[in-house]
Amino acid sequence: MTDLLPANSLVRKIWITETDAYRDHLLRLDAESRRLRFGGGVSDAFIQKYVKLASTLDAVLYGYYVDGVLRGVAELRAVRDKTDVDAEAAFSIEREWQSHGVGSALMSQMLLAARNRGIRTLHMICLADNQRMQQLAKKFDAQFSFEYGSVIGEVETPYPTPVSVMREVVADSANFATAMLDVHKRLFKFPLPRLRAEGDTEQAQTAAIK
Ligand SMILES: CC(C)(COP(=O)(O)OP(=O)(O)OC[C@H]1O[C@@H](n2cnc3c(N)ncnc32)[C@H](O)[C@@H]1OP(=O)(O)O)[C@@H](O)C(=O)NCCC(=O)NCCS
Repeated sequence: MTDLLPANSLVRKIWITETDAYRDHLLRLDAESRRLRFGGGVSDAFIQKYVKLASTLDAVLYGYYVDGVLRGVAELRAVRDKTDVDAEAAFSIEREWQSHGVGSALMSQMLLAARNRGIRTLHMICLADNQRMQQLAKKFDAQFSFEYGSVIGEVETPYPTPVSVMREVVADSANFATAMLDVHKRLFKFPLPRLRAEGDTEQAQTAAIK
């Protein structure tokens, strides 16, 4: 599914060191996407607190990156009761990247992550007017129930197998290297001075270095 996304983009796990990027992504969501993501309008202060809390909980995050910038996130959080381990998934994609298959690519990764963690049912709660989220869940065979203006989609995951675990491990190892390169690029983003070109005056060279 990720094959359909543009070449300068990728879906990969978000590492614990990247929570600032998650916060910045949520802060960039337009008002309507924020409402749909959080079930109501929320302030910047709320988002900052939310991300702090999310980073202390047992959450698995997958991100959609375009040219190294985080533009979409799927968040998986385990919900344990006495008998079973279920999880809740929540999605946020910045407006410009909505309806281009990003949600579908993130959902595939979420389901693999859930399956490999022994999570049997993935719940997605969205507002009743969120047609796109419901369509996305339907694509993955979700069963729906309705509660107080919200729709709950539930997708069953198969049992993990050595192959499903290997798929995640192999993707994560490659993605960890990409994440390190992104961090490296951010740390060393100062432009290099232009090399002296033939015919440059002293003045032009000094200006290029500045
Ligand atoms: C809901 C959301 C996650 C969907 O992700 P997406 O990348 O936009 O969705 P996709 O492009 O993968 O499309 C998924 C399906 O939704 C349907 N869809 C796409 N665009 C649609 C639109 N404008 N209206 C209705 N349905 C639409 C299609 O059936 C599509 O599948 P298909 O293209 O194979 O037919 C994303 O739009 C989003 O983050 N919205 C704001 C926040 C939000 O609503 N979060 C969900 C609450 S947790």
